[in-house]
Amino acid sequence: MNRLNENFSRLEGDYLFSEIARKVEAYRRAHPRADLIRLGIGDVTLPLAPTVIAALHRAVDEMARPETFRGYGPEQGYAFLREAIQQGEYAPRGVQLEPDEIFVSDGSKCDLGNLQELFSPRCRVAIADPVYPVYRDSNLMAGREVLLLPATRENHFAPELPTTPVDLLYLCSPNNPTGTALTREALQRYLDYAREHGTVILYDSAYSSYLRDPELPRSIYELDGAREVAIEFKSFSKAAGFTGLRCGFAVVPHALKVDGQSLNPRWFRRQCTKFNGVAYPVQRAAEAVYSETGRIEIAAQIAYYQENARLLREGLQAAGYEVYGGEQAPYLWWKLPTADSLAFFDRLLDKCGVIGTPGVGFGPHGEGYFRLTAFGDRERTREAVSRIAALG
Ligand code: MLT
Repeated sequence: MNRLNENFSRLEGDYLFSEIARKVEAYRRAHPRADLIRLGIGDVTLPLAPTVIAALHRAVDEMARPETFRGYGPEQGYAFLREAIQQGEYAPRGVQLEPDEIFVSDGSKCDLGNLQELFSPRCRVAIADPVYPVYRDSNLMAGREVLLLPATRENHFAPELPTTPVDLLYLCSPNNPTGTALTREALQRYLDYAREHGTVILYDSAYSSYLRDPELPRSIYELDGAREVAIEFKSFSKAAGFTGLRCGFAVVPHALKVDGQSLNPRWFRRQCTKFNGVAYPVQRAAEAVYSETGRIEIAAQIAYYQENARLLREGLQAAGYEVYGGEQAPYLWWKLPTADSLAFFDRLLDKCGVIGTPGVGFGPHGEGYFRLTAFGDRERTREAVSRIAALG
């Protein structure tokens, strides 16, 4: 009898970003004087907004006084934060959610990795290729069959619909890693498909704050029929610099049913069993994101990263490269002049001291591409552009 979950042997190597970090560390040890610019993992560099920090401090002080101390909180998140999310995130888009449709969590990576537990290992899953590796790896760990839908420049990085019925379909817009965004029409096509085939869409909108085009959907629930088929994931990581603080949420609408059963109470049951909620000060910090001053400060942070994306995009184009993304998202998807993105990673590190992410790490159709993030420091981003331009 095998006592281990043999599905782990289906995973290729380590988690993508751990593997990159290990390669960089080995390079750094071998070249301790190298001046490295990190545009690999999408980690923010600006400190938390002052309004968020003030809310954190206040909440920490509350924890020091008997009359305001808080122990275990509600597993689904405090009502004050779920209310702020409804008012700040959804009401402006004409979307009305019930408070118990919103589940506060410690980030979308965990939610996206965990939510598949609600489904049978026999469910068929479709993901884009290239893709954020968590969707693929978490389903492989669970033993599911995963169908890859190529996202290429020919289809504008909006994968074709599955040709055979699937039970789960992961979508991410604006996209990680391609930095492109789905139009309303493209998203509606996936929704219509899902409604026709009884497919559940797992919609990752971690980067929606980076959309510039007002015509593009910020939430899947802006579109007709989404509540019956879609779960939406949103994170404060990239929207408000919470990569180190950890907070996000998932929306599981009451209208979403599979085999006649509502998913909402099942997710609630799962969360209550395995999760004790997000720290109170962190939830107060997330609430502050939607305050009047919080919004202004955070809009300035987003604009800073958007400007980095513009510098990278225009800098690479001026150097003669083909580049996608970067207009509606903080990621640039660089078409390489070589088919080997891992070899290019080594070359760029060695010749320019610039760290990016090889496209093949996101899936076979990522080969020949390279991802750069706009989350770096402004001057270091400029410096990266000029080093790349000088590479020739
Ligand atoms: C990325 O670089 O793709 C992201 O930072 C990873 C994540 O959000 O977990």
